Amino acid sequence: MNYKIALIRGDGIGPEVVNEAVHVLDAVGKKFGHSFTYVDVLMGGCATDAVGKSYPDGTAELCKTCDAVLLGAVGGPKWGSDKPAEQRPETALLALRKDLGLYANLRPAALRPALADACPLKKETAEKGIDLMMVRELTGGIYFGKRGRYETEDRGVECTDLMAYSEMEIERIGRRAFELARLRRKKVASVDKANVLETSRLWRSVMHRLAQEYPDVEYSDVLVDNCAMQLVRDPSQFDVVATENMFGDILSDEASMITGSIGLLPSASIGDSAPGLYEPIHGSAPDIAGQDKANPIATILSAAMMMRYSFHLADEAAAIENAVDAVLAEGWRTPDIAEPGTQAVGTKKMGELIAAKI
Ligand code: NAD
Ligand code: IPM
Ligand code: MN
Repeated sequence: MNYKIALIRGDGIGPEVVNEAVHVLDAVGKKFGHSFTYVDVLMGGCATDAVGKSYPDGTAELCKTCDAVLLGAVGGPKWGSDKPAEQRPETALLALRKDLGLYANLRPAALRPALADACPLKKETAEKGIDLMMVRELTGGIYFGKRGRYETEDRGVECTDLMAYSEMEIERIGRRAFELARLRRKKVASVDKANVLETSRLWRSVMHRLAQEYPDVEYSDVLVDNCAMQLVRDPSQFDVVATENMFGDILSDEASMITGSIGLLPSASIGDSAPGLYEPIHGSAPDIAGQDKANPIATILSAAMMMRYSFHLADEAAAIENAVDAVLAEGWRTPDIAEPGTQAVGTKKMGELIAAKI
């Protein structure tokens, strides 16, 4: 089969990690007899520099001509929060997610067998295993609510960010979480702040209604502050973790680190129609950009998620995941996961080693 993949290389380490994922995809194509063709899509700070806008006209339409989108990362200090919205790279990413209708963001955090020593938790905690799937709502909540900035008479400038959720938005992400749980260990932890927020009380009531429809799935409510703590106390208790946009953003960075590094955690952003968007959860890492230090595994595993969720190619997805595990088992490590007794490699070499194992 021929698959057309949009590549948004983006900024900072984005192009470096996407390059390695492309090498791995090419190896998968060769082994399994597929042809992957790539369409470069300009978006992010690099687009601001090239055409004055981080989200050039027609970006979503161009992505829609493809079967899936692979994104590195966008953003960086050069295009900081003092810049107008249309020049900020993060604005582009949010717009793309919205325009493609990608309301479900799947972020699997699993402690890979070879990386047990990279887990910063107590040995006995790590030994219980970590294998959770964060299901983050991606096109609603405070990220997309009305914003305001105005002068007050006596308190200087005041700003507002509105957090809104509809039943429809909660129900569709909730269903995804329950359906995924059925394919896993049949547990859903729904994370909210229902002791304070009205949006969370609606979230909880919709989730309770869905829980009745999925009696085979063990359901629990967890307050977000407690969840942050439980993730480092005993992450083995979690299977599917369902939550709203901003809580999911924060908790997934935490979940990545307990598996060793943010450079390991992939993601799939999906909606009700193609194309899906696949991206590591990390950012453009300006502190290590251009130094061949970035871990490309999160992006490579995002390509595996693309095989599974967009193309329904389970063997190809497993081939990528097995290749990652095989290279880690041989002791090769980028600096973020380096441990005594392991062998140091850069971004390119790591990509090359994984591609060679396909
Ligand atoms: P970041 O994720 O870029 O970096 C945080 C820390 O993790 C840094 O020390 C970095 O070196 C390290 N790190 C990240 N990815 C790594 C990798 N693959 N290998 C090794 N180490 C890695 O977060 P930040 O510094 O807060 O954000 C930098 C920029 O990226 C900001 O502009 C932010 O908005 C943007 N960002 C973009 C995305 C995206 O495009 N999806 C996601 C998150 C942040
Ligand atoms: C992520 C990022 C984005 C988010 C930013 C860059 C808009 O942090 O994908 O986790 O907050 O969703
Ligand atoms: Mn984030």
